[in-house]
Amino acid sequence: MRLRNIPGAREIVAQDQRCFDTGDETAGKWSGIFGRKAQLMAEIGMGKGRFIIDMALKHPDIDFIGVERYESVMIKALQKLDRMKKEGGMVPDNIRFIRMDAADIGDFFKPEELDRIYLNFSDPWPKDRHAKRRLPSRQFLERYDKILKEDGCIEFKTDNRDLFDFAVEELEDSKWHADYISYDLHSDEKLMVGNVMTEYEEKFSSLGNPIYKYCIRRDNV
Ligand SMILES: C[S@@+](CC[C@H](N)C(=O)[O-])C[C@H]1O[C@@H](n2cnc3c(N)ncnc32)[C@H](O)[C@@H]1O
Repeated sequence: MRLRNIPGAREIVAQDQRCFDTGDETAGKWSGIFGRKAQLMAEIGMGKGRFIIDMALKHPDIDFIGVERYESVMIKALQKLDRMKKEGGMVPDNIRFIRMDAADIGDFFKPEELDRIYLNFSDPWPKDRHAKRRLPSRQFLERYDKILKEDGCIEFKTDNRDLFDFAVEELEDSKWHADYISYDLHSDEKLMVGNVMTEYEEKFSSLGNPIYKYCIRRDNV
């Protein structure tokens, strides 16, 4: 998702207290930022933030971080929170944002600082030579491995079959195994319990596309 450049978005995001863009401000400091010690979960590639904001509302006891590379996209999440406040609705305080390319994620968290990572409808990067840019690639799994707690997990949802097959293949000969792999999430009553829809999930499932999902963790747990 790359929205048209929004004039001033860079400055607005840089000045917003809810947003971070350097690891010095965040690595090992998340409990200070949130003012409590709670489970910490991040969506990488959050887009306009619908999923991560809904998760924060639904789970006030957990702290959430939305990661996005473009200011002109991230600003939509900030505006949504501001709108919710203006309209007098519940506004979650357990959510913050990082503006970064996820390739740098290791700079923003201390080892084992995250309890869970969500990858939702990640960009497919269809050309083979771009495989290492895909967020569920082995190169990214190595980055997640460093910052995820020992028993932490990664949940990945997409409607892109090629990307999903690639992601499942990346688990072969790796330290990761799947708790479950679903090729039709929305038909699985058990897996749908507590499912929070993302913007893309709603869009593509309403077109009749099956939604694929896995949840993975390291082999030692
Ligand atoms: C297709 S959208 C999906 C948005 C949302 N997760 C959803 O399911 O509705 C993917 C988003 O991930 C962001 N993204 C892609 N690669 C990224 C990276 N390496 N680092 C940070 N954000 C990234 C894109 O800018 C885009 O906003």
